[in-house]
Amino acid sequence: MNEKIEAGFFTVFNRQENILENYDHYEERKLSDMHRYFAAEDIRQQMALANNEVIYRVYKKTAPLIAGELEQAVTVINPGQVNGEFFMTKGHYHINEKCSEVFFTLKGEGLLLLQKGQETKWLEMKPDVITYIPAGWGHRTINTSLSEPFVFIAFWPANAGHNYQKSLDEPFGRRVFFYNGSYIVSKVL
Ligand SMILES: [Fe+2]
Repeated sequence: MNEKIEAGFFTVFNRQENILENYDHYEERKLSDMHRYFAAEDIRQQMALANNEVIYRVYKKTAPLIAGELEQAVTVINPGQVNGEFFMTKGHYHINEKCSEVFFTLKGEGLLLLQKGQETKWLEMKPDVITYIPAGWGHRTINTSLSEPFVFIAFWPANAGHNYQKSLDEPFGRRVFFYNGSYIVSKVL
């Protein structure tokens, strides 16, 4: 699939079911898929053995992986915690460091964590907030609600490429925990 898209098309966010209708690629990450991502690795393992909840789902509309095309995906992060650390995505860097990305928040509330070298930044996300991820920054999203799914749609250049390993090799400098009825962004020591 290396030919550019020639015809306009549309997708639909199904607000009742929290899915991107017309998606052509689906991924889900359960507790068992998140080895080494949470601070309490031992608790994550126990939880994976006990009920292995789905942490997040991704409904993607793919495009040819060439410059000029855009891909899009709805991500749904379920509410939950591993030893007080909120459910989150693995996070990734773009292989092509010139590629940025935009998130449009659809439902719920969460944080966008950004990492570049030793520098960590974060932005709050809630419905109608559109966040911009500058090229070269690693990005992870976190559901900070105790009860509601956190849902957003992302748009990114189809030639960005995804590097998940880097978010393990050079971990995000902050973690987000439940604290005092809300959340705290805690420095990783
Ligand atoms: Fe990305």
